[in-house]
Amino acid sequence: MTESAHLYAAVITGFEKVASREISEKLPATECFSGRGNVRFCLDLNSVPDILKLRSVDNLYVVFYENEIVGLTDMEKEKALKTIKQQLSYCNWELAIDVYQLAQGKNIYGGSDLVVDQMREFMREGKRCEVTENSPKFRVTCKRCGEKEIHTFSSMDAASKFGAEINNAFGWKCSVKEFDIEVVLRIEKDNMTVMMALNDESLFKRNICAYGPTTMRSTVCYCMLHLASIKPGDVVMDSMCGGGSIPIEGALAWNTAFFLGGDNHESAMERCKKNWSSNSSSTKSNCEFFNWDATNLPLRENCIDALVTDLPFGKKIGSKTDNRLLYPILLNEWKRVLRKGGRLVVMGHDKRTLEKAILADRSSWHIKANHIVNMGGLQCLCLCLINTKS
Ligand SMILES: C[S@@+](CC[C@H](N)C(=O)[O-])C[C@H]1O[C@@H](n2cnc3c(N)ncnc32)[C@H](O)[C@@H]1O
Repeated sequence: MTESAHLYAAVITGFEKVASREISEKLPATECFSGRGNVRFCLDLNSVPDILKLRSVDNLYVVFYENEIVGLTDMEKEKALKTIKQQLSYCNWELAIDVYQLAQGKNIYGGSDLVVDQMREFMREGKRCEVTENSPKFRVTCKRCGEKEIHTFSSMDAASKFGAEINNAFGWKCSVKEFDIEVVLRIEKDNMTVMMALNDESLFKRNICAYGPTTMRSTVCYCMLHLASIKPGDVVMDSMCGGGSIPIEGALAWNTAFFLGGDNHESAMERCKKNWSSNSSSTKSNCEFFNWDATNLPLRENCIDALVTDLPFGKKIGSKTDNRLLYPILLNEWKRVLRKGGRLVVMGHDKRTLEKAILADRSSWHIKANHIVNMGGLQCLCLCLINTKS
């Protein structure tokens, strides 16, 4: 068995650095570097069983082939697809299956020994493997990055050619909807990467069963909470929590801190309670929800250590005109309840109104960091501020 693996984490664009920090804090990762919307790192196989515990990562893959195919961009279609298909024999299938089994804690029929034998026979004698009732189900997806017109083939063409070759070599059953194994081809200009997905459902779907119109991904919530530098004993609040995504993610990830969530929408509390009870079976709770008006909180001054919140964007909820009135009032109320040195991490799509509201009271807030984050195609601003109480 190989001793280490090269992993690819798909993360929220704008929060790559936060994800890198979580990876380095929780795992003995080496060679960690980030690109747009991803973080790559090397990991000892002994630590692979821990990777699905990462909370900032949407999807995880093991990279088991990476190479430049000289001239791929100019190649005539049939030749390009044949060349892509031929790369199958250069992929490290043994590593992919070993890492998949370690991450998922379950076995693929025959394990990595079987794929090694099948590949040897396929290469030596061109022997096709028949599908049996034990054969795993799989699908191939192809993602081409950058300008797509530079290739003579489509992503679908590449995926189906590579998939047909996997079926020939290993006898795996192709199934687009219900599959055990997902193989991902990533093609950028002449560079091709082959990866195997390590999680079944996207990791950002955890925590929430009662969705609302603006439910935030758990992975975005985690990154915002991480930016708030939460310490044991901290009281952390989301004063406009919708269905409770931020406080719930906080309470699960930081069990030594206490989380408060509130909202003024009639259905929000019901969703918060449903979402929290689907995650917490314990009678001890470090998370509470309240129906309140965030502009007039029933809390005394200086009682909150960190405030992490997602503002009404003025799209699905509220309007940009409302935001101009609302944001300065909210900032004032947050300044009151946050202790001196308390942290505010706030996400908004109406960037100008948010920046303007902060600048109008600039002596009260020290801007520590800002991130432009892609939230479902919308470019949002995530600001990290310190309450200076000036
Ligand atoms: C962008 S959404 C938050 C979504 C939330 N992060 C989630 O994942 O469900 C903004 C929330 O602010 C709430 N809101 C707007 N004005 C409010 C106010 N004055 N007091 C309390 N909540 C308010 C809305 O009801 C909405 O749920």
